[in-house]
Amino acid sequence: MPTLLHIDSSANPKTSVSRELTRLFATTWLAVGEDRTVTYRDLHADPVPHISDAGLHYAPRLRVDVEAPDPAAEALQAELIAEVAAADAVVIGAPMYNWSIPSTLKAWIDHIHVLGTTAPYDTPDQPFAGIPVVVISSRGLTYGPGSKDEGLDHTVPPLVQVLGAALGMKVDVVTSDLTLVGRIPALDPFTEQSTASAADARDRVVELARHI
Ligand SMILES: Cc1cc2nc3c(=O)[nH]c(=O)nc-3n(C[C@H](O)[C@H](O)[C@H](O)COP(=O)(O)O)c2cc1C
Repeated sequence: MPTLLHIDSSANPKTSVSRELTRLFATTWLAVGEDRTVTYRDLHADPVPHISDAGLHYAPRLRVDVEAPDPAAEALQAELIAEVAAADAVVIGAPMYNWSIPSTLKAWIDHIHVLGTTAPYDTPDQPFAGIPVVVISSRGLTYGPGSKDEGLDHTVPPLVQVLGAALGMKVDVVTSDLTLVGRIPALDPFTEQSTASAADARDRVVELARHI
């Protein structure tokens, strides 16, 4: 049965742009075939802890003496890794928080990026290779080419690096810009740009969900 792993990390449960877009992705993806199912993980409502031991970044055979992760932490890590491995597609809501990813999402990433288990080290381990993952990033301002904050987006690049380069997943990115229009009066001149970005994001999400 094809399975989508649907992950949210916004701390805004009610009017979150990324949550709305990941939901749109999931409902569109589900509608493509009858036997499809979704595994949902809300990293804000049900956060995973920070990694408790640096050894969790390494396969057990690669750990050094002082690294002795708690078996419960290892079990949680194995569960999170198994969830990704079992997915035919993954969608991740990744709002920009302080030019970066929410700490809840970072804690999840720190659990699933494991040298010698999910990422190559002394062997070519890459069990997630080829799994499509759609990163949906909402941000209050805009960071595209030519914008004054171009180059300050540290949300999307680390996700592309870990999921794509390290884990070998097939990454697509959708951004929704200027989501703070309507809240910050100084952004009023960008109303049209914000509306256009939201519409583009919805179109792209539907397109990706239909064809992934
Ligand atoms: C803790 C926090 C930090 C934020 N930092 C930034 C930022 O650095 N740059 C930015 O453009 N927007 C920033 N924002 C605005 C969010 O990116 C924006 O509201 C986005 O829509 C959040 O995603 P969501 O709608 O899915 O919750 C921040 C919001 C919060 C709550």
